[in-house]
Amino acid sequence: MTVVLETRHLSRSFNAIRAVDDVSFSLHKGELLALIGPNGAGKSTCFNMLMGQLKPTSGAVFLNGENLVGQSPRAIWRKGVGRTFQITGTYQSMTVAEHVQMALISHHRRIFSIPPYAHGLYRDEALGFLDLVGMRDQADRPCAVLAYGDLKRLELAIALSHDPTLLLMDEPTAGMAPRERTALMQLTADIVRDRGISVLFTEHDMDVVFAHAHRIMVLNRGRLIADGSVEEIRNNPQVQEVYLGGGTLFKPEAGASRARTFRCEQFLRQGACAWRSQLYG
Ligand SMILES: Nc1ncnc2c1ncn2[C@@H]1O[C@H](COP(=O)(O)OP(=O)(O)OP(=O)(O)O)[C@@H](O)[C@H]1O
Ligand SMILES: [Mg+2]
Repeated sequence: MTVVLETRHLSRSFNAIRAVDDVSFSLHKGELLALIGPNGAGKSTCFNMLMGQLKPTSGAVFLNGENLVGQSPRAIWRKGVGRTFQITGTYQSMTVAEHVQMALISHHRRIFSIPPYAHGLYRDEALGFLDLVGMRDQADRPCAVLAYGDLKRLELAIALSHDPTLLLMDEPTAGMAPRERTALMQLTADIVRDRGISVLFTEHDMDVVFAHAHRIMVLNRGRLIADGSVEEIRNNPQVQEVYLGGGTLFKPEAGASRARTFRCEQFLRQGACAWRSQLYG
């Protein structure tokens, strides 16, 4: 099997915190590899080092045998690495199609095109990518009005637009409803199979991970504690301890909604206090 991506003893500290600690793994061509772990395990930090957003404290990242450490995110993107982010980052007033066109214009090194001409550049190609992710009918809508799930699908279209050989997807379905999540991951799995793309993704929804990953790695407090098939990970006592013992991951939605409810209650309580003090204070 051809190794596309490899890390060797990858580490990153933030002062006393060892966010990623001596992580070594390989990703093979055509593989859908999941990197899972509780909140704060170091997954996004790991992604940021793979894509050049963060410099490792030590260790190395190899893409098709070439060391990427010290290279800029743009240089790494040009080598055929696509990325989607945990938190979507789109421009509110730009349309869906314009976002994909922007990526295509950059990919084709036409960023100095005069804006009136740039408007029509690569529109058909952009629509093709939007079709791929089921967003063709929303092409001319501004991002400000999109549902979160649609923003996630747009991110995927943008990431695919420069024909990547490797996709890094940090929580591609975060914030989506369960049915939408499964649909997006199924779509991703189909695309990567058809195009021979390798994927490293993180995901908190275990149903999604177990249904789609070819292999799973588990990160806990920066360290890789397991690497194996879906069955091996499902039955690994250390992994069960991290997840069930910590109680944070198998039911992320319950935790997230509890946190939201708590914040909402606090807000309402503060509002109510302010209101009451205006009346009676
Ligand atoms: N820029 C930073 N400065 C200081 N500490 C950081 C920074 N980025 C991450 N950390 C810390 O590193 C650890 C790993 O964070 P990271 O965001 O990589 O976790 P994660 O696995 O992606 O979590 P989540 O599932 O919540 O997204 C955490 O303790 C976090 O607080
Ligand atoms: Mg993260």
